[in-house]
Amino acid sequence: MFAEEITCTNCGEKYGLEFKSGLCGSCGNPLEFRFDYEKLKESLDIENLAGRPKTIWRYFEFFPIENLGKVVSLGEGYTPLIKARRLGLEIGLKNLYLKLDCFNPTGSFKDRGGSVALSRAVELGLKGVVGFSTGNAGVSQAAYAAKAGLKSYIFVPETVTHEKIYSMAVYGSKVFIVKGTFEDAFHIALKVSRERGYLLNGGILNPTRLEGKKSIAYEIYEQLNRSVPDWYVQAVGVGTAAIATWKGFKELVEIGWTDLIPRIGAVQAEGCAPMAKAFETGSREIAPVEKPTTIASSIAVTKPLGWPLLRKAIRETGGTVKAVSDHEILKAERELATLEGVWAEPAASAPLALIKRGLNEGLIDKDETVVLMVSGTGLKDIKAAEKLANKPIQISNELDVKKQIDS
Ligand SMILES: Cc1ncc(COP(=O)(O)O)c(C=O)c1O
Ligand SMILES: [Zn+2]
Repeated sequence: MFAEEITCTNCGEKYGLEFKSGLCGSCGNPLEFRFDYEKLKESLDIENLAGRPKTIWRYFEFFPIENLGKVVSLGEGYTPLIKARRLGLEIGLKNLYLKLDCFNPTGSFKDRGGSVALSRAVELGLKGVVGFSTGNAGVSQAAYAAKAGLKSYIFVPETVTHEKIYSMAVYGSKVFIVKGTFEDAFHIALKVSRERGYLLNGGILNPTRLEGKKSIAYEIYEQLNRSVPDWYVQAVGVGTAAIATWKGFKELVEIGWTDLIPRIGAVQAEGCAPMAKAFETGSREIAPVEKPTTIASSIAVTKPLGWPLLRKAIRETGGTVKAVSDHEILKAERELATLEGVWAEPAASAPLALIKRGLNEGLIDKDETVVLMVSGTGLKDIKAAEKLANKPIQISNELDVKKQIDS
């Protein structure tokens, strides 16, 4: 294993590799794994990747896992990166790519973090896992806990869609719907995980999850014929996935595969946009949102702990974080579906709204290469689809069909 230590991203305090979850005890900031990149570089030749499995585990050297025999995998990762020609033409962007993480085993990018986190939990001998989630992370936890044979409890806010709640339940997890926000769900999960000695699985509090998500960067690099896009655009709730992808690209620089890092474009929904607001006012601090009001329930995180790191990622790469309206989000969902055949959930459609804004404002150039992360499938939010799709037509005979088609 090439992971050397876990350190605080702010004050540098060191934690042993056995550390399971939580923030820095000294300063309250997120923790991250540090690797011996010199050694990793010596042992990993890019040509050797060719014969490896098409899952995140083709990059096992970058994960903090000792025993590869105990890996909990459902075939996550190495999702398609497709060129969006019709959509690109429509919005005036020559090189727009869609990273289809909606094709992961449970329909979202969360499976990347879930696979590595649960593998580590098994390796550390833990018997259960306690999650808090806006939906997708919970569904993923439920599936991987089932595969690993671990007990699984998930706390979710009331805004979580019906499809997501039942997905968690189908996999055998116990699901608790908390009256309140994501924050409230988090506090209960934290308490339960401590009392039971189970893994706390969620957000940026479990550094192992972040390690799994950084595989997004390696895949994009390989799929763009060993190059890096100008922009990587992602919806943000806590901010973990965008931060992880940024970390992944930085690691590729560390091991000498590239010297470029994309600009990070992060998007929130206007009804819950604490990070976009802080960015606009130049603030280091988040003003927590009392009551989120957006159709993009997956990114309705009222007090995102990832802000210090996401802010750094955006400032260092010349990126941005902006809020878009529910109207723009639903329009984007419809465009992705009708122009590209890609059905994303509202949160996963929001990056398209940001890209359109960026083009209009001159932040993104029409000749730049942009990767849009399709972070979750539309199938887990049918109510949202009802708001944007053509209404099915009731007919009683063939004459009716003719009338409807010709009208
Ligand atoms: C579909 C989807 N997109 C984006 C996000 C945002 O991820 P993060 O909380 O890591 O910022 C989530 C988080 O739940 C999600 O479910
Ligand atoms: Zn610290």
